[in-house]
Amino acid sequence: MRKWLLGGLGVLLLLCGGGVAAVTWLLTSGGVDTVGKVAFDRPLKIPPLAESTVDANGTRVFDLTAEPGDSDLGHGRSTRTWGYNGAYLGPTLRAERGQKIKVNVHNRLNEPTTVHWHGMHLPAKVDGGPHHPIPVGGDYQAAWTVDQPAATLWYHPHPSDLTERQVYRGLAGMFIVQDREQDDEQDDLPHEYGVDDIPVIVQDKNFDGGQLSMSDRFLSDIGILGDEILVNGTPAPFLDVRTSLVRLRLLNASTARVYDFTMSDGRPMQLIGTDGGLLSAPYPTETVRLSVGERAEVVVAMRPGERVELRSAPTGLGRFQGDRDAFDVLQLRAKPNQLGAQPNQLKVPQHLADIERLDPSQAAQRRTFTFQGREINDDRMDMDRVDAVVVKDTVEVWSVANGHDTPHSFHIHDVQFQVLSVDGAAPQPELGGWKDTLFLEPGKRYEIIARFADYADPTTAYMFHCHVLRHEDEGMMGQFVVVEKAGDKPKLGHN
Ligand code: C2O
Ligand code: CU
Ligand code: CU
Repeated sequence: MRKWLLGGLGVLLLLCGGGVAAVTWLLTSGGVDTVGKVAFDRPLKIPPLAESTVDANGTRVFDLTAEPGDSDLGHGRSTRTWGYNGAYLGPTLRAERGQKIKVNVHNRLNEPTTVHWHGMHLPAKVDGGPHHPIPVGGDYQAAWTVDQPAATLWYHPHPSDLTERQVYRGLAGMFIVQDREQDDEQDDLPHEYGVDDIPVIVQDKNFDGGQLSMSDRFLSDIGILGDEILVNGTPAPFLDVRTSLVRLRLLNASTARVYDFTMSDGRPMQLIGTDGGLLSAPYPTETVRLSVGERAEVVVAMRPGERVELRSAPTGLGRFQGDRDAFDVLQLRAKPNQLGAQPNQLKVPQHLADIERLDPSQAAQRRTFTFQGREINDDRMDMDRVDAVVVKDTVEVWSVANGHDTPHSFHIHDVQFQVLSVDGAAPQPELGGWKDTLFLEPGKRYEIIARFADYADPTTAYMFHCHVLRHEDEGMMGQFVVVEKAGDKPKLGHN
């Protein structure tokens, strides 16, 4: 009956001229399913490690140029895309904890942009939010000292209104933080970039006439939902694996989609890290769910000669959010005889990191944020409104809820947080480590705790927001300012 009604609605819209969208919807109402249909005929591209120099002060200096280009994304060689230092995506930045770094950013696009360092603990002035647009042709410098545990972070544009399209066209890259103090644990994990330690940047795309299409799927409340998958900008990718253990640094750099990653034969993956770093111990799991902006590090064990695919399974999250879609994502091909020739025949270590548990009884402040429609606590983003004033070096508990049935993804700048509870219950093991982005399941409430350490600046706000990029662009963001001591007032300086 319901199906019939929806079908009727489709036909009605067809008649009314919503034609193409309605037909697409009718054709895909069972969901997109590429499982078994992907050729896996292209080697996975590995973004190069960004070149850098060390200046007289010992600062490591990187250069990123946001620029247009032409890419082969599986629909001819001239898909117009954007990238950093190239046509699509950007190089992987890598830096050690304790390292002073500086990134020179150049905007060679035809519209303003910013670069935000997602997951990085840094001063608000260099956070790269919408307050500091880089004009067309302009340059920008961000400098800070990397000071946080080893983690898979990323960078992407964050301008007002334009974030979804800029990321969709290809502006995104990975940022790997290394930590010498954790070396014992790290050494026992696969850690050779591009060999057994692999960036896996997953994005869904639509094409129309060889060009990226930004049209929404019918009735989608979260913006673009693609029907093809790219990994590191590679369509139908395979990866030759030469070691018995391979570490995948999964990054959901899509604009809206939630993935439930599985292996095609159901083998468990060892989840070793989440957004802000390694877990205290590996967690074997058959499914890794990543909403937009989240990362997960997993280790997959391979036997000589076998092939196994990373897939994305239907999420069951909501009728018009792509929840029935299933994708083949990446094929792992183990070389027949070389396995074991490499040093990492090891088991994943059972102890990965020491995680200091933050104590909610120490909270200086408790706050509540409800995500609903395009508002957080009934407000949209206003650059002149400060939603939270936080005192430096204090711990706060935030209660964050999804107040309706659209999936949202909660992200906060500057800090990594811990999840205290989900609907009052203890969180699942995959939420046991450091997080900066959290999937908000429809109707659920999450309590998180964070310490706002080191950087106070009354003049400059950090953001917290929904990381579904359409929602973000439509104003589902708020801002907080960190002040030096209780009673200090923010004095926003951007205008
Ligand atoms: Cu990934 Cu506010 O950003
Ligand atoms: Cu961020
Ligand atoms: Cu949202």
